[in-house]
Amino acid sequence: MKEFKRYAVTAALPYTNGPVHIGHIAGAYLPADIYVRYLRNNGRDVAFICGSDEHGVPITIKAQNEQISPQEVVDKYHVIIAESFKDLGISFDIFSRTTNQTHHETASAFFRTLYDKNVFEERTTEQYFDEQAGKYLADRYITGTCPKCANDKAYGDQCEKCGSTLDPTDLINPVSAITGTKPVLRKTTNWYLPLDKWQEKLENYIEAHPEWKTNVLGQCRSWLKDGLQGRAMTRDMEWGVKVPIIGAEGKVLYVWFDAPIGYISATKELALQNSKFSDWEKYWKDEDTRLVHFIGKDNIVFHCIIFPAMLMAHGGYILADAVPANEFLNLEGDKISTSRNWAIWAHEYVKDFPNKQDVLRYVLTSIAPETKDSEFTWKDFQARNNNELASILGNFVNRVIVLTHKFFDGKVPDASGCSDLQETLTQYKANISSSIEHFRFREAQAELMNVARIGNKLLTEKEPWKTFKEHPKETGIVLYDCLQIIANFAILCEPFLPFTAQKLMKQLNLETTQWNWSDAGRQDLVPANHMLHPAEILFEKIEDSLIDYEIEKLHSSKAITPPASVPLKAEISYDAFEKMDIRSGIILEAKKVEKADKLLELKVDLGFEVRTVVSGIALHFKPEELIHKKVSVLANLAPRKIKGIESKGMILLAEDQEGKLIFVNNEEDISLGSIIK
Ligand code: 2FM
Ligand code: ZN
Repeated sequence: MKEFKRYAVTAALPYTNGPVHIGHIAGAYLPADIYVRYLRNNGRDVAFICGSDEHGVPITIKAQNEQISPQEVVDKYHVIIAESFKDLGISFDIFSRTTNQTHHETASAFFRTLYDKNVFEERTTEQYFDEQAGKYLADRYITGTCPKCANDKAYGDQCEKCGSTLDPTDLINPVSAITGTKPVLRKTTNWYLPLDKWQEKLENYIEAHPEWKTNVLGQCRSWLKDGLQGRAMTRDMEWGVKVPIIGAEGKVLYVWFDAPIGYISATKELALQNSKFSDWEKYWKDEDTRLVHFIGKDNIVFHCIIFPAMLMAHGGYILADAVPANEFLNLEGDKISTSRNWAIWAHEYVKDFPNKQDVLRYVLTSIAPETKDSEFTWKDFQARNNNELASILGNFVNRVIVLTHKFFDGKVPDASGCSDLQETLTQYKANISSSIEHFRFREAQAELMNVARIGNKLLTEKEPWKTFKEHPKETGIVLYDCLQIIANFAILCEPFLPFTAQKLMKQLNLETTQWNWSDAGRQDLVPANHMLHPAEILFEKIEDSLIDYEIEKLHSSKAITPPASVPLKAEISYDAFEKMDIRSGIILEAKKVEKADKLLELKVDLGFEVRTVVSGIALHFKPEELIHKKVSVLANLAPRKIKGIESKGMILLAEDQEGKLIFVNNEEDISLGSIIK
């Protein structure tokens, strides 16, 4: 492998349209942090770069939903996100923002350079326009049916169901996310990056990295095989970096054009803040720098194809040497979803589990979605804390420190080991290093825990608590060796469990900065007669009640989340509302309507009469489930014939985000025929 002089490590800039959740942490930030801490501990020159991605449609939609300005949205979430990272020990050298001046200037200059080099193609195309809102509908401002998988909630830029990248004009039945109206096509001019012109260079770039993860190579090759096409790098929007050319008023840079440049602007800012990085350019322009992007799988194309094409077109920049993208983390059997509030938010975790940052880090690394999607469950979280961190690691450390206090007054016994620990520990260190260098953090952490296991094994075999009276020398040797194992563990665990590393150093009464990675393997880290601090519990067991509370919280907050922005229908008068007569009823009978997959014929008792109602719910409920269900019925709806059956009234239903139907009338004590108003 090539020897690099320095490293520029980036972690995907999170969108500031909400807080970050465990999926984000496991996907990009934690593996990046482990890698960077490892490099730093090895004395490497590394700049760890991140910041908020504060432009783009997700932010403006959030602002619209919350009736505040986009700036207010990003100001709010930038702080929450930055705090979460800090609390979890994600050790960025800088956490910048793309709304700041340095970034606007940098992104603008980058675009201008490409423009002056005639890289862009100016194209006038028809784009969807919302006449009511007076706006062009870019990316997520438009929804419709995915032409590839028929998902009717696909966005203008992407279908989250099948993962296809889309153009708004690909959508079937497009609808504006601003007003809910059907948009019209209008001509507009934008600047396109002709990716096709970079096809060959990009192929060579990707194929020069056969060592990349298969998920990353797979996506890149599939894009390249389909043949790259030009992609608009500007948008008709107000929120973003203004397009720096005359005649482009009312247009901003595409968020995926400006965001990766955010890595560069953040490095520039870092140079201003910290003299160690004053020569920022070498992190981006010197061939001796290893540029590494940590991202989630939905970002692969942008980091492996589009950003490299931008950098090549600009010239003077190095390209990423590694893009260790992770797959997705699921949660309790379902996809993590911000809009459905099916997530464990980092800022809530640190509140609910104070001083348990390393437990989350440990669990997320144990289940990291490195090669395929993986799953977080609270029960597994509890089991890994109780059975691994507390039982294997915590218990080992505690026994050793307590016994040293008991038998040797808290002083490291004067007994240099005659065992072959040094060789064993050196081998573990080599294995952990190699796994980290290959971005296999799960494997690395599992090997780390084996270091604690050798300590436990030594204790179990030698039983020093029994031997002291008769063989104090042997007892001393065992404890001496175990203390060296703890010290080695403290070094080797720092990238994964930095808070624990500090606690271990404190119990050993040593300076946290005393050693670095190269010291691991040594069997004389804590010298004889060195005084230890008293033992402290490293990991408390987590009780069932706390886990039950978290599971309940997850489910209940999902239920109360309002659905994602569905535009309101046109206003109606109070009179129109008052005309509706909604009654409480109960279903007496239900059967399928022949030759109609979706219809059920229901007999509904309204207290004063039994009605026939035909309802389009057959795909959601079996007839037998419906007997004795309480329902609300719009009772004065004009009767109409459906498949030859006269239907009198309509059953009211709520539809949740996943399309599940729920009857509007769960109150058991509403009596039949009650008027609902
Ligand atoms: O997917 C996301 O959350 C994007 N905001 C990531 C941007 S990464 C980089 F290019 F800035
Ligand atoms: Zn789709």
